[in-house]
Amino acid sequence: MLKLIKYLKPYLWQLAAVIALTYVQVMATLRLPDYTAQIVNEGIVQGDNSFILHTGAIMLLVSLLGGASMIGAGYFAARLAAGFSQDLRNKIFSKVESFSLVEFNKFSTASLITRSTNDIQQIQMVILMLLRLALMAPIMGIGAVVKAYQLAPHMTWIMAISVGTIFIIVSVLFVLAVPKFKILQTMIDRLNLITREILTGLRVIRAFNNEKYEENKFDKTNTDLTKINLFINRLMVILQPVMILILNLTALGIVWVGSHYISTNNLAIGNMLAFLQYAMQVIMSFLFLTIIFIMVPRASVSGDRVAEVINQDLSIKNPEKPQKTKTNIGDIEFKNVFFSYPEADIPVLEDINFKAESGQTTAIVGGTGSGKSTIINLIPRFYDATKGEILIDGANVKNIKQEELHQKIGYIPQKAVLFSGSLEENIKYGAPNATIKDIRHAARIAQADEFINSLPQKYQTPVAQGGKNFSGGQKQRISIARALVKKPEIYIFDDSFSALDFKTDSILRKELKKETKNKTVIIIAQRISTIINAEKIIVLDEGKIVATGNHKNLMKTCQIYREIALSQLSEEELNK
Ligand SMILES: Nc1ncnc2c1ncn2[C@@H]1O[C@H](COP(=O)(O)OP(=O)(O)OP(=O)(O)O)[C@@H](O)[C@H]1O
Ligand SMILES: [Mg+2]
Repeated sequence: MLKLIKYLKPYLWQLAAVIALTYVQVMATLRLPDYTAQIVNEGIVQGDNSFILHTGAIMLLVSLLGGASMIGAGYFAARLAAGFSQDLRNKIFSKVESFSLVEFNKFSTASLITRSTNDIQQIQMVILMLLRLALMAPIMGIGAVVKAYQLAPHMTWIMAISVGTIFIIVSVLFVLAVPKFKILQTMIDRLNLITREILTGLRVIRAFNNEKYEENKFDKTNTDLTKINLFINRLMVILQPVMILILNLTALGIVWVGSHYISTNNLAIGNMLAFLQYAMQVIMSFLFLTIIFIMVPRASVSGDRVAEVINQDLSIKNPEKPQKTKTNIGDIEFKNVFFSYPEADIPVLEDINFKAESGQTTAIVGGTGSGKSTIINLIPRFYDATKGEILIDGANVKNIKQEELHQKIGYIPQKAVLFSGSLEENIKYGAPNATIKDIRHAARIAQADEFINSLPQKYQTPVAQGGKNFSGGQKQRISIARALVKKPEIYIFDDSFSALDFKTDSILRKELKKETKNKTVIIIAQRISTIINAEKIIVLDEGKIVATGNHKNLMKTCQIYREIALSQLSEEELNK
């Protein structure tokens, strides 16, 4: 929690306003019982009506002042808390944007969502309470004790007893409740995780008739969460009647003892009434403090969780001294590259060496899970190689500024991702200044222009969240157009033709070939027909390169390649 305090800086003047207004409010509240005492002692007892009216008027003014300060303090406190949590949400968001896949795996999407919503809400609530109650309680408590002592020193022991009792009760609650708070936040994480999984996988769940199973899974987590919430809420609910009981017993004690003193003329009636009010103020401020002691640990769990995200060290950073590439043509070279996923022992890639040159198409083939996507994930630095180096135009990717690196690459992911917005916005995602002509040109090459034009709103057609209103093949073509508009030096197609029919696939590749004449093209494909014309084909098996060559000589020399090819096409087609 403390780690977040530095972000309060922009709010210093609001904080000052809250402190000043709270001070006025407390002072006003502390004055009121004094006037009560005066009205009773000098007004009522002596029957002086004008004194009563006069003092009453002053009392009213002081109350109004107190009330106005309270509203003002509340206003600034609420603004401060809301602004502060807005800042935190922004900080988390921009931090998460710079996360690599390593950090994403560490936090999980569900937890990141809880952290930027529920956790921040906890913090906002506690800041508001700290500003309102924590500032007020000590001044009011101490002030009231002093005042009460001045009025009737021989009765302060009653206050001491009730405060002591409250202290003991609250300590017990504290010990019982605080350990549960941490569990509570992790459980909300878990609930989010399961909800997300169920919502995104709903179709699969239905198709496999697994609703019951998922329901039970959800039910269990939900019940666990409810149990803890109930436990905490029960504790809090007990607190209230107990406190009211103590409050009433204290009042009773004061009147009881006070009337003794009054009957022996050791205490004025007005003073007893004022003492009673001060005693209530002392107990109230003590109550406020205890509420804060219960709330702060919960928020501090949340604060730690938020700070953990904001202060997370990035595993993939920009180089301190960025290096310029020697040329700008997009030649790629892998040199003795090894890679294992974080927290996995077995390397997924072993000793990868190859060159993908400008003006050529380099294809990577291999069974599923052989490491094809992993290889190309290393080029834009979604992950960093464990050993060895990857060079673009002679410069190690680790030494190129990330924005520059990403600018060079047109990446079409294996699973097409679209964003909500219009089709046009999606296509010009990597080149905001692209004209409609550029957009249509790219779409035409990607074989998307025709189907887009058949839509009623054409390029302005809205894309639903996750691109749900488009088919798999349409999404693939839109993401190909998106990469083309950017005009990068390097194209990376991760199985991006898989959802296209053979005819579209073949036309698209022909058009693409013209457009990418002087570019470096890397294509991953399952279909041999997609890569049959590639200048260089790399055959990958279990993370190792087993052969490199073009289609003709691989057919002769590489057993694995021959097997893949023959499983898809006939001997004649292959030898065409
Ligand atoms: N995020 C990850 N964490 C741990 N292991 C992973 C991760 N992603 C992939 N792997 C493992 O790395 C290996 C290679 O995966 P990769 O995605 O590169 O295969 P691929 O050749 O692209 O397969 P496909 O043709 O099915 O797309 C697989 O064995 C997989 O289990
Ligand atoms: Mg893959």
